[in-house]
Amino acid sequence: MIDPQIIEEIKFRNDIESVVSSYVTLRRAGSNYSGSCPFHSEKTPSFVVFPATQSFYCFGCGAGGDAISFVMRAENVDYISAIKLLAQRGGLVLPDSIDGDNNKRGVGRQRVLDMNKEAAKFFHKCLFDEKIGAEARDYLMKKRGLPSAIINRFGLGFAPNSYGALHDHLRKLGYTDEEMCVAFLCGKGEKGIAYDYFRNRVMFPIIDTSGNIVAFGGRVMDDSKPKYLNTSDTPAFKKSKNLFALNFAKNNCENMMILCEGYMDVIALHAAGFENAVATLGTAITSEQARIFSKYTKKVIISYDSDEAGQRAANKAFNYLQEVGIDVKILKMSGAKDPDEFIKTFGATRFKDIIEKSRTRFDFELEKVLAKYNIADFDEKIKASKEICNIIASFSSDVEREVYCIKVAKLLELPKESIKKDVSSMVNKHIREEKKNQKNEIYRATSGIGDRINPESAANIRANKIEEAILGLMQLHEEHFKKCIETLTSEDFVTSFSRKIFEKMKELHSLNVKFDIAYFSEDFSQEEVSRIAKMQTDRQMLNSNGDDVLMGCIDSLRAEKNKKKSENSLDSLEALLKKKK
Ligand code: UTP
Ligand code: MN
Repeated sequence: MIDPQIIEEIKFRNDIESVVSSYVTLRRAGSNYSGSCPFHSEKTPSFVVFPATQSFYCFGCGAGGDAISFVMRAENVDYISAIKLLAQRGGLVLPDSIDGDNNKRGVGRQRVLDMNKEAAKFFHKCLFDEKIGAEARDYLMKKRGLPSAIINRFGLGFAPNSYGALHDHLRKLGYTDEEMCVAFLCGKGEKGIAYDYFRNRVMFPIIDTSGNIVAFGGRVMDDSKPKYLNTSDTPAFKKSKNLFALNFAKNNCENMMILCEGYMDVIALHAAGFENAVATLGTAITSEQARIFSKYTKKVIISYDSDEAGQRAANKAFNYLQEVGIDVKILKMSGAKDPDEFIKTFGATRFKDIIEKSRTRFDFELEKVLAKYNIADFDEKIKASKEICNIIASFSSDVEREVYCIKVAKLLELPKESIKKDVSSMVNKHIREEKKNQKNEIYRATSGIGDRINPESAANIRANKIEEAILGLMQLHEEHFKKCIETLTSEDFVTSFSRKIFEKMKELHSLNVKFDIAYFSEDFSQEEVSRIAKMQTDRQMLNSNGDDVLMGCIDSLRAEKNKKKSENSLDSLEALLKKKK
């Protein structure tokens, strides 16, 4: 555990209000502050900072914690790095031993980055090895037409067809099996033997904007499956927060960026001089990635595959990007399945042409509908109008809908009023559906079904509520904290998640340390920390947090526990009887 004096000093020098204000515009709301959540897209602010407890909580997405966990999320860094950043911010010099702590407790970010760099060098060397890399070189240069300058620029490589080539290489450099597995460079077999995860694949390093190699994608050289393997999330990498080739694109993207689906598309575009192309990493675009775009550019051209799946994905991406205020256009590509193929077939100049002709989502979809129907025919015109109204209804801005209604009325030679009426009834339908979804969501959340953080809560709804109240009260008042440590034991808790939290609290108490959620970020995941923060926030929102409430909760918890115990013994009695039969 990090020295409590350091944590205290860091928190003292970094007010949560001031830390958060460097990322979010905060408005005073009573004794608290509120703003738009930096961790999910939202239109009405549901993110609150509580100076009294030095904590934050988002009522929209459930993210919560203290200054340290805020920085972990906002900067996408691990616990130690967040502490270092805050120390620097507060002008505090940390002892060197802080990194040692980190290594003892699992594999740190820097270690993974160093390992990735060695792996990338190894893959690159294999690609240019006379014998080992011959087939891969043929594939990339002859079959895919990549010049060696581009191969070098992107640091492409080749993972040999072997279960241990990279493993042995990294072993010699002093990395352990466990570290290789954490970095996702190796997997572990049944007997616990580490083997190379990427085999016989051309390798695409994924490089962050600081030049770190954070992950890899690896492609087969034939039609076998899976086509690509990608690094899963590691201490150094989160898929949903990175973009392929952003390290290059970030220097050429003030005017616009091009968003593609595939690694190969991006590389082909860069080779053809479009150095503002990026791609997501094997997943649909996330709101986090949309915010990355908004940091770097005003305009994004979505250049997805021309098949149906690609077009559906383009609509989704469009919404995410528009939500963060980006001017989004969609590219219309015909005669080729993706940008890579388009450039190979028609050349870079033609690609530039279609970029200039890229259109708004509305025009794009309108054209698709018009191509389907003959609007000179009365029945078909009605069908077309229905579909178009549905498209218009999917835009959230009133002004936008109004403008499109006028346009469509003219185009279909129909009265503007009837188009508007149809659109508004569809908008209402969408709203009703949305509400229903929300209701289901709330039901799921309160019933504990599908609760990944505390899976036992569904079967123990009442006990879980009481536990959360107790753990929340403990965070809120020092006297409550002491009282619970003195009167409760771990065995009093029903769900293991609550028990784990209580045990950590006991550990803090035994070290004579006051409760601070900062200590939880070390061994609990960010989602878990958010849940713990929620317990406190829930109590803060109530006015009844006195001794009597706490004692009531403790009694109820014990009663629940006894009930569970007798249920369990009944269960085992039943099992015993069954066995006898
Ligand atoms: P594509 O199949 O369009 O790949 O998938 P591509 O990059 O154009 O590759 P080529 O041209 O066939 O060589 C688009 C992206 O989806 C992810 C990869 O990030 C890929 O670049 N993907 C695809 C996977 O992660 N796994 C797969 O099995 C397939
Ligand atoms: Mn492709």
